[in-house]
Amino acid sequence: MTKKQFDSKRSYLGFGLGLRTEHYETIVNDWPDIDWFEVLSENYMIGGGKPLHYLDRIRERYPMVMHGVSLSIGGSDPLDREYLKQLKALAARIQPAWISDHLCWTGLHGKNMHDLLPLPYTEEAISHVASRVRQVQDFLGRQILLENVSSYVSYSQSAVSEWEFLSAIAKQADCLILLDINNVYVSAFNHQFNPSDYLKGMPAERVFQFHLAGHTNKGNIIIDTHDHPIIDPVWSLYAEAVRRFGFVSTMIERDDNIPPLAELQAEIDYARKIAGPILAEIAA
Ligand SMILES: [Fe+2]
Repeated sequence: MTKKQFDSKRSYLGFGLGLRTEHYETIVNDWPDIDWFEVLSENYMIGGGKPLHYLDRIRERYPMVMHGVSLSIGGSDPLDREYLKQLKALAARIQPAWISDHLCWTGLHGKNMHDLLPLPYTEEAISHVASRVRQVQDFLGRQILLENVSSYVSYSQSAVSEWEFLSAIAKQADCLILLDINNVYVSAFNHQFNPSDYLKGMPAERVFQFHLAGHTNKGNIIIDTHDHPIIDPVWSLYAEAVRRFGFVSTMIERDDNIPPLAELQAEIDYARKIAGPILAEIAA
């Protein structure tokens, strides 16, 4: 494959939200002022029923992107062809702007641990992941986005920083990046690095999406729980990211302790308030 296989022009979707079952009814009744939705791919890899019914209805009115948790791109088991087939079928159904998953491994010997586990940041892991990303992209016929995960442990074998690791994979595989601003903040706290260095180390042209989320601070460690509102230092880091990367689609991720939609709508509006003036300045 040549590096120019894909046309990597970034489309800008605006300010979105992770679609959750708790909000289905409110969305189809109120059609809220949300620019787009990110859907969890695995929740819709089913034959029928209520989730697909709502998915199709909501898709009629909003752009969507697909976000997965089971690709295990860093794993050593062979890629799961059945999973990839289902992913491709779902993409054919909802025509997402893009498809993303995490830079991690999630299991071994066919067992899914349902956790996003970090990799050692080594040359060997870079080649391993990049070759798997290329296989996935060839199968799907499109580039994928890889998301930086929060981590709580590191490997003594790591030879480069996390941002160098992610950048090298993106370049080798010619894939794109979903930059989770909260995860940068969480990992910077847990591993004692400067989050601004992470932003500066990202290849700007490959960053297609931001995630924003809340977390749980245990004092000596931060856990990426997605069950709280976004905190002020993460909003500040977001402003810094918008200044550096410009028009990147932003999305609020809440997975637990899910509040009424209006509360998350307020967080979307807050993101618009932060990014709006910076983007207007960039556009001028
Ligand atoms: Fe995320």
